[in-house]
Amino acid sequence: MSGSSAAPPIRVGVLFSETGVTALVERTQRRAVELALEELNAAGGVLGRSLEAVVYDPASDPRKFRRLAEDLLGNDGVEVIFGCYMSSTRKAVLPVVEQRGGLLFYPTLYEGFEFSANCIYSGAAPNQNSIGLARYLMQNYGERFYLIGSNYVFPYESNRIIRDYISSHGGKVLEERYIPLSAGEEDIAPIIADIRKCNPSVIISTVVGEATAAFYRAYRKAGFDPAVMPIGSLTTCEPEVAAIGAEAAEGHYTSAPYFQSIRSPENERFVAAYQAKFGPDAPMSSCTEAAYFQVHLFARAVERAGSAAIPDVKEALPGCLYVAPQGPVRIDRENNHTYLWPRIGRVAASGQFDVVEESAVPIKPDPYLITPEDETWAAGRSPDTKSTSIVGNGG
Ligand code: ACM
Repeated sequence: MSGSSAAPPIRVGVLFSETGVTALVERTQRRAVELALEELNAAGGVLGRSLEAVVYDPASDPRKFRRLAEDLLGNDGVEVIFGCYMSSTRKAVLPVVEQRGGLLFYPTLYEGFEFSANCIYSGAAPNQNSIGLARYLMQNYGERFYLIGSNYVFPYESNRIIRDYISSHGGKVLEERYIPLSAGEEDIAPIIADIRKCNPSVIISTVVGEATAAFYRAYRKAGFDPAVMPIGSLTTCEPEVAAIGAEAAEGHYTSAPYFQSIRSPENERFVAAYQAKFGPDAPMSSCTEAAYFQVHLFARAVERAGSAAIPDVKEALPGCLYVAPQGPVRIDRENNHTYLWPRIGRVAASGQFDVVEESAVPIKPDPYLITPEDETWAAGRSPDTKSTSIVGNGG
């Protein structure tokens, strides 16, 4: 409108799949970004500018992710992208983001051993989920592990870390098997037969996407008892438990920094706002929460920098603290990953997770597993407690 002196909006890209094998969880991430943007705009935007989303559906396909990242950064006037679930899609997008000097906010747990100056990692690194999960299951169920994953980079790399942990702590990996991302009953039946033959103490599953429900259901149908031989996962989450059905998911474990069931004022507010917008039964997961808080962290960094330029935002980000639904979080300047609150949850009959173990302090991200800290977070200790003891709402 002529005569308007309103500052132009800050356009941000949103790349989460609405279709394809991992749409169930990615849709919740897109929704969380939408919610956070709406909250920020309702509060007046950032630096007096509104936030405007450019949203695409990359359909769980790494090639589409890459092409749409090109569009966002090349044609749509976007410099920041919130997006990606599967590590294969992050790895497809990052070279584009790096080449064009953009910034990717990646809100999903992953296998670690990566750094990009153009990526902010707000999901758990292996020291914040997989090491604790392997330790907990070994202590409580036994030392004979069976590893099953989807056939792509995250399960392979995650299992390499878990295998190292198990073998260096007196355990044994009996078998390590992979199924297609689109696996159905015919792919899962031989695995179920093999599990019966191997008779492990514990299963670690890095199966992602739609195959998750097929696997847990087949496991239940085979008569395996989670009280004796549970599945431990890093990804299986509330929306997937809803798809599996609580009776087939009950008793199994997931390690994550956030569960929908966490009792805190910040989480109660988040769950209420999310469900008011997306439906009273809409489930959310650690990936949903990370997608939500990273938008707020981005906004804080823009405010703090007084600028939405990428170098300014990157410089300001580590100085920002945000009290997320899981607890206060902040970015580690050393590695662009996030201080998080590791937890282990067990699926209850309600379909929600009972938290059976949680860190008393936020744990420094250690994506290269430089610090041997396998015993630390469960006991509420951190190698870096002094610098992580700040709580409250930073500016
Ligand atoms: C994942 O692929 N990082 C879940």
